[in-house]
Amino acid sequence: MHNTAVIKVSIAAVEQLQSISRQTFFESYADRNTAENMQKYLTEVFSIEKLSEELNNPCSEFYFANINKQTIGYLKINYAHAQTELKDEHALEIERIYVLKEFQGKQMGQLLFAKALQLAKERKSTYLWLGVWENNTKAISFYKKCGMIEFDKHIFVLGEDKQMDILMKLEL
Ligand SMILES: CC(C)(COP(=O)(O)OP(=O)(O)OC[C@H]1O[C@@H](n2cnc3c(N)ncnc32)[C@H](O)[C@@H]1OP(=O)(O)O)[C@@H](O)C(=O)NCCC(=O)NCCS
Repeated sequence: MHNTAVIKVSIAAVEQLQSISRQTFFESYADRNTAENMQKYLTEVFSIEKLSEELNNPCSEFYFANINKQTIGYLKINYAHAQTELKDEHALEIERIYVLKEFQGKQMGQLLFAKALQLAKERKSTYLWLGVWENNTKAISFYKKCGMIEFDKHIFVLGEDKQMDILMKLEL
């Protein structure tokens, strides 16, 4: 039996967070983007400085998903002004939810999603929302399975490339 856990990430684990963030992002999008755009994104968005800033933001939280103490995925949520858009005091954003390729399809994504839902309910948020790349059909089916529905679209910039994100929400 696998021993699974969802653990809040502390600033002391910033290097571990950088490593899982870069690996999961690379595995998810390297085949669909130019090497230059990927490199730029991995370097800038997942720098120790930027991740430390986010970990120190009282309105953002990161959680690791562990199997037998090995980190195989993570979640980033935002409240209030830390949200990338909307910035609604009554909402909670899932900014990132990533599982290593090797461990996908083993309900670890659902475990991280359940954590976000629990935190939203504890905060008495009225809805949970997120943006997902329109071509990420796998993640879109995952979110639909979690009960989320599409409500809008917005532009997401990856390197020099502008891509369309679908916004999805779950009313609580
Ligand atoms: C999206 C993601 C987080 C889902 O995590 P996961 O651990 O693979 O998903 P789970 O095993 O918890 O799957 C939960 C449900 O989602 C659905 N699902 C999962 N993978 C699916 C796929 N490839 N196609 C369709 N539905 C899928 C299934 O219905 C599954 O339910 P089931 O086990 O009852 O069949 C994970 O696949 C991932 O990290 N993907 C790459 C990164 C990414 O795209 N993140 C989202 C960015 S917005």
